[in-house]
Amino acid sequence: MVGKINELLEELRAFTATNLDEVEQFRIKHLSKKGTIAALFGDFKNVPNEEKKAVGQLLNQLKTTALDKVNELKDSFTNSDFDKSGLDLSLPADSVKLGSRHPLSLVKNEIIEIFARLGFTISEGPEIEDDWHNFSALNFPEEHPARDMQDTFFIEKNPDILLRTHTSSVQAHDMAEMELPIRCLTPGRVFRNEAISARAHCIFHQIECLYIDENVSFADLKQTLSYFAKEFFGEKTEIRLRPSYFPFTEPSAEVDVTCSLCGGDGCNVCKGTGWLEILGCGMVDPNVLDLNGIDSKKYTGFALGMGIERITMLKYGIKDLRLFFENDIRFLEQFTAAGF
Ligand code: DAH
Repeated sequence: MVGKINELLEELRAFTATNLDEVEQFRIKHLSKKGTIAALFGDFKNVPNEEKKAVGQLLNQLKTTALDKVNELKDSFTNSDFDKSGLDLSLPADSVKLGSRHPLSLVKNEIIEIFARLGFTISEGPEIEDDWHNFSALNFPEEHPARDMQDTFFIEKNPDILLRTHTSSVQAHDMAEMELPIRCLTPGRVFRNEAISARAHCIFHQIECLYIDENVSFADLKQTLSYFAKEFFGEKTEIRLRPSYFPFTEPSAEVDVTCSLCGGDGCNVCKGTGWLEILGCGMVDPNVLDLNGIDSKKYTGFALGMGIERITMLKYGIKDLRLFFENDIRFLEQFTAAGF
């Protein structure tokens, strides 16, 4: 009996398999009810009493060896190399930490979406401009005090080159390059020599809107403004136009919307007036059309321009403009918007 057991022990230890089927065959052969080990346990009753202890131990050793062998071989076929290294591949993966869009991008995209519904497409122009595109083509005469309205960064060696002070500069590119009718929207960075404070920065963003066609009227402008205000600030928003002056539009206006925080009753955001200024606009001055090669007797147009920082501050109740440029994650990760 001891001889048989030792022989089987050898056989079990030496066993290897090339697949799970062979392991199962091995298990059935040795560990099932009719297997070799069960048969030996059956013979155990015939072992003389004085040998029972030693033989019993040997039989148990045989059984554990068989069980260990089965488990070890099964593991080797079911687990990949990674598992052997101690990794549990069934654990859920760590979530990927996504960034969030910058609030200025969110608002810019939202404005673009609203105007896209009206058929406006995007046009972009250079940040480094010449005097013509930033001023002259927009009806700012030489030495005209209106040029001082915008504190311009000039290139010292060549005062004809400057950093654009507004995205209106792209109007001149569009009029020169595009086919009529023109219906375009221009987002971009602009630069002014201003001291940095909670309300002003030397770099900020604007969106310019230009529409030129036959028979474009002030009513079209007003309707566009009203549609934009309601889409962006909410259904109940009303607009108000105040006469203003810009060299490139005539007539010109500044546009206010009813304060979305107090609904027009007056609060500290609208300084008790119930109104918030959001943009400048007007009918494209016929001089501008002519200067840019468009027949002002045939075509009319409107233009409007808004500061993205300002609109974003109003939308989210942000009190300090510098936050947009500091890249503080605690500030930036607070902004999310559906669809962007
Ligand atoms: N360019 C002006 C500014 O930066 C904003 C502006 C006003 C744009 C009136 C326009 C407009 O297109 O019609 O202050």
